[in-house]
Amino acid sequence: MSKPKILVARAVFPEIIARLEQHFDVEANPSDTVFTKAGLIERLQGKAGAFTTGSERIDAEVLEACPDLKICANMAVGYNNFDIDAMTAAGVLATNAPDVLTETTADFGFALLMATARRITESEHYLRAGLWTKWGVDMFTGAEIHGSTLGIIGMGRIGQGIAKRGAHGFGMKVIYHNRSRLDPALEAECKARYVGKEELLKTADHVVLVVPYSAASHHTIGAAELALMKPSATLVNIARGGIVDDAALAVALREKRIAAAGLDVFEGEPVVHAALLDVPNVVLTPHIASATVPTRMAMARLASDNLIGFFEENKPLTPINP
Ligand code: DGY
Repeated sequence: MSKPKILVARAVFPEIIARLEQHFDVEANPSDTVFTKAGLIERLQGKAGAFTTGSERIDAEVLEACPDLKICANMAVGYNNFDIDAMTAAGVLATNAPDVLTETTADFGFALLMATARRITESEHYLRAGLWTKWGVDMFTGAEIHGSTLGIIGMGRIGQGIAKRGAHGFGMKVIYHNRSRLDPALEAECKARYVGKEELLKTADHVVLVVPYSAASHHTIGAAELALMKPSATLVNIARGGIVDDAALAVALREKRIAAAGLDVFEGEPVVHAALLDVPNVVLTPHIASATVPTRMAMARLASDNLIGFFEENKPLTPINP
């Protein structure tokens, strides 16, 4: 019997491709081209499955043009690149890659918070530019981390990981806002107190965003929310571009309405809003929160296992729209 045909839409580890080739007739993308919509449709012709990343938008147009498609396995926990309603209507299964990246992403969220609050990249640029001529009493003074108030918006698994690091590791007072309140045992484990969004923005010294992107979470932080934050506060976004209004944030940073921001994700990435590149009090990283070799490998393995499980036993491991 011939093997099902699949597209692996981006370049992934050779071990993963070799494993997939044992089960599928694989079209890989070793040059790591990010396909245009037309290019994606062309390559998905006749394919029963796709190994995708956040770069491939699977919507009604793609689904209509690719009637053989049965499953798209995203190598990401976020799946805002999928139009889930359209996929469900077309009978196409969507899977994502949760859990395997939780701790690594929480580590990075905390690293970005520390780099932002303690002005690590800003001071490094100063040093590399040869501007450091003497030690200074108030040189690059930043915000306190230990003992401060950490506000987390989005208290899923990654948010909980950040809460535990803050509360247990740094003695921070943790407050959070979420669509629904955690059960009391989990709140106790995270040492976190539920508050309204406005209270969180007004009282937190550091605000970390970990909400999934949807129409409802678009611009969770815009000019009005930034105006509620303390002038000494930092904002960290490791969730998705579009959760923050980047133009409004650039203005708030330039006018020092908040002290600093750390951003791993951007509206319209990989293009970064030009005004953000012009302000010094922002730490910018290229969507790398889950980027360690073991974690990226585990994410790729889970996406592969979803494809194999679906085609061989009709049992994908982490379906979104079963
Ligand atoms: C995720 O898993 O959603 C990360 O942001 C990588 O895309």
